[in-house]
Amino acid sequence: METRVTHGSAGIQAAGALLRAGEVVAFPTETVYGLGADATRGDAIRKIYATKGRPSHNPLIVHVTGIDQAQAVNGLLPKNARRVAEALWPGPLTLVIPRGGHICPEVAAGGPTVALRAPAHPVAQQLLAAANVPVAAPSANISGHTSPTTAQHVWDELHGKIPLILDGGPCAVGLESTVAEVGEDRIRILRPGAVTLEHILDILGNFKGSINPAQMPAASGQPLASPGLLDRHYAPDSSTFLFDPAQWDAVRAYLREQGPGFTATLISYSADIRLPAPHRTFMLPNDDAGYARGLYDALRTLDAMRPNAIFVLLPVNERGLWPAATDRLRRAGRYFHRKEMP
Ligand code: TXA
Ligand code: MG
Repeated sequence: METRVTHGSAGIQAAGALLRAGEVVAFPTETVYGLGADATRGDAIRKIYATKGRPSHNPLIVHVTGIDQAQAVNGLLPKNARRVAEALWPGPLTLVIPRGGHICPEVAAGGPTVALRAPAHPVAQQLLAAANVPVAAPSANISGHTSPTTAQHVWDELHGKIPLILDGGPCAVGLESTVAEVGEDRIRILRPGAVTLEHILDILGNFKGSINPAQMPAASGQPLASPGLLDRHYAPDSSTFLFDPAQWDAVRAYLREQGPGFTATLISYSADIRLPAPHRTFMLPNDDAGYARGLYDALRTLDAMRPNAIFVLLPVNERGLWPAATDRLRRAGRYFHRKEMP
């Protein structure tokens, strides 16, 4: 299949027409690029799963223009979810609510709930308006890989497999949306993102909140509340090792032992932590928004160099987008333990 890359209003109209015809198209959102299809059509949704190689038990996020479309396609929003949506949509927040109305079961992997989000990216909004259907869209990558934050990333991963990539420039946030379940008196963050638990608690007041209780090991045999929490996810092909600043000496000692012929790459945000040649260092900004925006491009860029290993200096800050970045890194790689290194 030939893949077209388009932009602008002609591109948006072409993508909207393909969506209405039951095809899949890649499009920009403020978080990451999505691979969209009509959420009311099982045949279209099955193309998403097939294109990504996504396990059929992992449900998809449905994108809508806002609360009105959400209610038109899925029924009234529960009261508390509606309060949160009124304050934070459009934006990088996905709400898990009971499924109803016109959303097809394949989107929800057959489950009783559906994940809804109104993206803030103007191109995504215009595409949703042009398509005039709710659009289910996971990140536009092969299942388990790093999410794309540019049209080029989508091309590298999916060209030849989809008819169209709508280019809306690099994603401003760079990490996937927060996934939250809002109940009667409690909130569960199933996937951390740019919208934090504190943001939601500010709106709802006296609620109980918890983050990521599904951080239990997958081996426990319990079903995951959100399969995006599966242990290997967001991952480059190269072996990826995460380390704390305190382990820097141990990392350097390990690299010295490997001798010539072993090339490592490093993602750092600290001027004091960088590797000497022939190794390569990708320096990200030491602020949460800049780090999040650049992280997936850094992982892809270093992965393309086919190094023997990618090392990542773990963020230590707990504010803003840092926990979301750490969460994705934890699934993209494993912790550096000198004794366990290959
Ligand atoms: O930022 C984003 O959310 C991007 C853009 C394209 O909007 N989309 C995205 O989709 O990251 P995906 O499929 O890569 O991740 C969706 C996450 C997964 O962790 C999935 O398990 C969870 O949302 N999810 C979807 N439906 C759910 C449901 N009904 N209950 C719980 N978790 C759900
Ligand atoms: Mg994904």
